[in-house]
Amino acid sequence: MSTLSQDSSNQSAEAQSESAAKAKDEQPMLQIWGGRPLEGHVQVSGAKNSALVLMTGALLASEPCRLSNVPALADIARMGEILTALGVGITQGKHVLEIDPRHITKTSAPYELVSQLRASFFAIGPLLARMGEARVPLPGGCAIGARPVEIHVDGLKQMGAEVYIEHGTVHAYAKKLKGARIYMDYPSVGATETLMMAATLAEGETVLENAAQEPEVVDLANFCRSMGAQIQGAGTNTIVISGVPRLHGTDYQIVPDRIEAATFLTAGAITRSEITVEALVPGHLTAAIAKLKAIGCQLISDKPDALRIVPGDVLRGVDIETLPYPGFPTDMQALFVALLSLCEGSSVVTETVYENRLGHVPELKRMGADIKIKGNNAMIQGVPQLSGAPVTGTDLRASAAMVVAGLAAHGQTTVQGLHHLDRGYDNIEAKLRSLGAKIERIDPVAKV
Ligand code: EPZ
Repeated sequence: MSTLSQDSSNQSAEAQSESAAKAKDEQPMLQIWGGRPLEGHVQVSGAKNSALVLMTGALLASEPCRLSNVPALADIARMGEILTALGVGITQGKHVLEIDPRHITKTSAPYELVSQLRASFFAIGPLLARMGEARVPLPGGCAIGARPVEIHVDGLKQMGAEVYIEHGTVHAYAKKLKGARIYMDYPSVGATETLMMAATLAEGETVLENAAQEPEVVDLANFCRSMGAQIQGAGTNTIVISGVPRLHGTDYQIVPDRIEAATFLTAGAITRSEITVEALVPGHLTAAIAKLKAIGCQLISDKPDALRIVPGDVLRGVDIETLPYPGFPTDMQALFVALLSLCEGSSVVTETVYENRLGHVPELKRMGADIKIKGNNAMIQGVPQLSGAPVTGTDLRASAAMVVAGLAAHGQTTVQGLHHLDRGYDNIEAKLRSLGAKIERIDPVAKV
């Protein structure tokens, strides 16, 4: 290669890294001044992972539906855009959504929107059941794993649908779905939700075996039942759905977000602060409560929908293995890795649900955490303190772990990757400020 072309490729590489650095500098970030105690009460919003699937569930109804306790999140707005593209009427109020599915005009969801929101794939079930056809782009993988959807597809085929994948889109057709006994190879949350919704309008009875038992699955079943569906056993590993000819409208309140609740509880523990988290369901947090107690915190229910966390003087390491509900939730794993990095002794955290969900570890190590990754295990040795540093959230829950670690770290932490955080947290910095945290969102571009 001649020196001239060598020079120009060096220049373009330089220019590229310069523009990458510039783009990074222009990203909004959170600035956190850590090492301060928190105090007071904080309210949990409605659950993202329930709101998203209930929005698709509304497609089953022949009348308008009203959802309340809807969190203000980027993902909710995106799901609204997808439903609007199908011809559904969406009216957004303060934590309220009016969804009018009477005049669905399209049964194919647009790739450019679906590719940004995996949960929109779950719409294939209600669309197929209500309209007899659905074309939904394959969601594809994300930072935490390949996330295939074969359990969804196999289940729909067992209900008599013709399903094939062409040009990256799943095509599904069925004049009338038929009830079936479906054993799920893995208790997938999304597949349980897709098949449960499809079965509500199918002919006859469907039995889902080895089904997911998450609170969001139960919330979806309760929502469908409030529209007239016949569903038994949600919350257990066997769900029985007797199909009905049509579903009516409803007015439904979404359950609180147990992952957001755990985020605030770990914020209390990691800063050694006594705080109260409200508008939650303690029964949805059994695994997290058990681990926080084992670490050395007290969890007190002063009210049925609140938990007060009182960290002990010494917090000790524990081992955690993520599992489907009621096991320890994978969505809380990153938060607890951050907390355990400041607990005495050693801890092993094993991620069994996703193949690539330890992206937060290298970032925590930038803050001084002592963690080694071995396969899907994070081997943690507690350190006395973390120090503030510039870090980046690699996915939604990893971003929350950066924020929680930043609250405990000495000095200033800047967190980038907020496009991940905003997908799942409704105004987190204002809520943390209400607890006394010193945290600010800086948006360099907005500043210019
Ligand atoms: C839901 O995702 C949540 N998302 C996820 O929350 C959560 O991590 C997950 O359940 C597990 O609790 C929503 O509800 C929108 P799965 P989902 O199907 O339904 C494999 C967050 O942070 N699998 O239970 O996609 C899959 O690859 C997000 O809020 C198959 O192999 O999760 C994964 O490894 C992240 N084939 C495992 O099962 C399938 O057909 C669990 O996936 C389906 C899933």
